[in-house]
Amino acid sequence: MADNMANRRVAVLISGRGSNMTALIDAAKADDFPADIALVLSNKADAAGLAVAAQQGIATETIESRAFGKDREAFERAMQDKLTEHNIDLVCLAGFMRLLTPWFVKQWEGRMINIHPALLPSYRGLHTHERALADGVKIHGATVHFVVPEMDAGPIIMQGAIAVLDDDTPETLAARVLSVEHRIYPDALRLVASGEAKIAGAVCRTSASGSPDDALISPSVI
Ligand code: GRF
Repeated sequence: MADNMANRRVAVLISGRGSNMTALIDAAKADDFPADIALVLSNKADAAGLAVAAQQGIATETIESRAFGKDREAFERAMQDKLTEHNIDLVCLAGFMRLLTPWFVKQWEGRMINIHPALLPSYRGLHTHERALADGVKIHGATVHFVVPEMDAGPIIMQGAIAVLDDDTPETLAARVLSVEHRIYPDALRLVASGEAKIAGAVCRTSASGSPDDALISPSVI
């Protein structure tokens, strides 16, 4: 793992299997990666990702959200205490299945990012792959964005797209989108941690760019 004093200390928040968390952990092993994964925090004790993180020698914490009932802010204050204890600079939501209050989002304004399995602003919310297939879209993908109080909104940092195939099922589509997620989340974190992703009002600007001549055309007729 990169052990540079200037590296940003990142907490990854999970609720489940943590495959995006694993992609971030793997990427952060590179010497030139500008962030260290300092903490994995789950709101569920049975999240599979916790064991994976622990095996990699990463600090883990569990704060059972269920124990707080409807008091979302009390749960978040407990999380905030842990994040402070671990000197966290940046938060990555990775399949963290809790709605966050404006209070918590404010604590991490410009320092908390999320990955969503769709090309935002299309398909906010759940069941994105089912809805994309029902609409017959030909291109689908994933988005990394800064977190704002509104769910699945906020300045877009990076997107990755794939072609939708006629015989896709929600499962096959999810699998291809997931491999895109595993590519873009580490790259987006790299931009944010190095300070290259800058929020300008409702959008995010970076010095990086896509290749201007690349087009993904779907279906392809040749
Ligand atoms: C991913 O599809 C992510 O985009 C969404 O929740 C899923 C989490 O998967 N927010 P994993 O736990 O990272 O494998």
